[in-house]
Amino acid sequence: MNAAPKERGEPRAQPHRTRTRPTALPGTLTGELTAATTDRIIYNLTGIEHQYDSLRAELPATDIRFALKACPVDDVLHCLAARGAGFDAASPAEIEQALRTGVDPDRVHYGNTIKSDHDIAEAHRQGIRTFATDSVEDVTAIARHAPGARVFCRLATSGEGALWGLNRKFGCAPEDAVRILDTARAAGLTPAGLSVHVGSQQMTAEGWQAALDLLAETLTALTGRGIVPDHINLGGGLPALGYRDRHGNPLDPPLDKIFAVLREGMDRLRALAPVTFVMEPGRHLVADHGAVRAHVARLTHRRGPDGEDAHWLYLSCGKFNGLYEMDQLTHHMVFPGRPDPGETVPAIVAGPTCDSDDAYGAGLHPVRIPRTLASGDPVWILSAGAYATSYTTGGFNGFGPLPCVCVRAHNSPDHERP
Ligand SMILES: Cc1ncc(COP(=O)(O)O)c(C=O)c1O
Repeated sequence: MNAAPKERGEPRAQPHRTRTRPTALPGTLTGELTAATTDRIIYNLTGIEHQYDSLRAELPATDIRFALKACPVDDVLHCLAARGAGFDAASPAEIEQALRTGVDPDRVHYGNTIKSDHDIAEAHRQGIRTFATDSVEDVTAIARHAPGARVFCRLATSGEGALWGLNRKFGCAPEDAVRILDTARAAGLTPAGLSVHVGSQQMTAEGWQAALDLLAETLTALTGRGIVPDHINLGGGLPALGYRDRHGNPLDPPLDKIFAVLREGMDRLRALAPVTFVMEPGRHLVADHGAVRAHVARLTHRRGPDGEDAHWLYLSCGKFNGLYEMDQLTHHMVFPGRPDPGETVPAIVAGPTCDSDDAYGAGLHPVRIPRTLASGDPVWILSAGAYATSYTTGGFNGFGPLPCVCVRAHNSPDHERP
């Protein structure tokens, strides 16, 4: 695995930085949101670059490979590639998009443990030489369709402490990892590494600690069998800071503690074998630097089947066109032009479609919103940059994908895509 590339001014570790939750919008986004008269999703490329730099400063000498599923927007990928990022891709189509940035194929890996024969062969044809795996069946197929490739084996984690656990479907036990990498070696592949994913939006340092313990145990077992991986892939899971929980309260992940646990764990692993480190952050790099401009469809007040009175705020944007993660979280909403705090009512916030899943927190948890909202009023939905464009449907109920705009700090739109 290549070492992390040298970049403009190698960043230095900053173990004790003070963080502010992004409640105030950077001027770049405010200007664009204020000017918008129609719905859109807006990315602040300057903010994404700063986020990347700050992660590099926290974890120096870690090779950052953006999990592009979190934001497959060409302008975002280009700006990260220009900064030195590689990519974690999950399919030949994602590999193709990553390579369009001009990044060397050596800086892209196939990070999905689920691959057909055809997809392995296609990735190999595209120049990809490093593949994730978690089964003997998959490793055997890689040996056949990508002969001589490098493989890293994903260990199963519990997903505890994360908003989305990503457990059960992926990863294997330490004993199986030894068997799988042994099989890889016998089949002419390079048993190159181990990986974990602690679950997406991991809210605890303990989640990382458990994964690092698992890696140490497996690395020891592997070196005991004469298999010495050259890298450890720490996966995604780093949290965004601007989300709110189902009740509208700010989520407050202990990011500084997480980084401290990671640095300590990496030192411990380096003492066991001469490994380098890769990380595949997705949401951490983009979530807080994307915002949605939507509008109010209607604020209603009606009695439900339980006889209870409830307000419902229906927005133009919901689960199927940009806010897929409504199941676990809510977003901070700004209603421009409305006094804050003005007169408010508790309302359940939902998207515009005829699907009852299209509501924050399964439609059970009201949050306070201005009482006088009217159809057409703009709403800004903050920290909405992760998984927004990738999870959006083609146009369920006719509500199509949001146009995407990328802006820079000097506040001129780079591009607008319909
Ligand atoms: C293999 C892999 N790596 C990285 C990520 C990115 O995760 P996150 O957005 O939590 O950082 C994912 C997300 O699903 C993933 O499946």
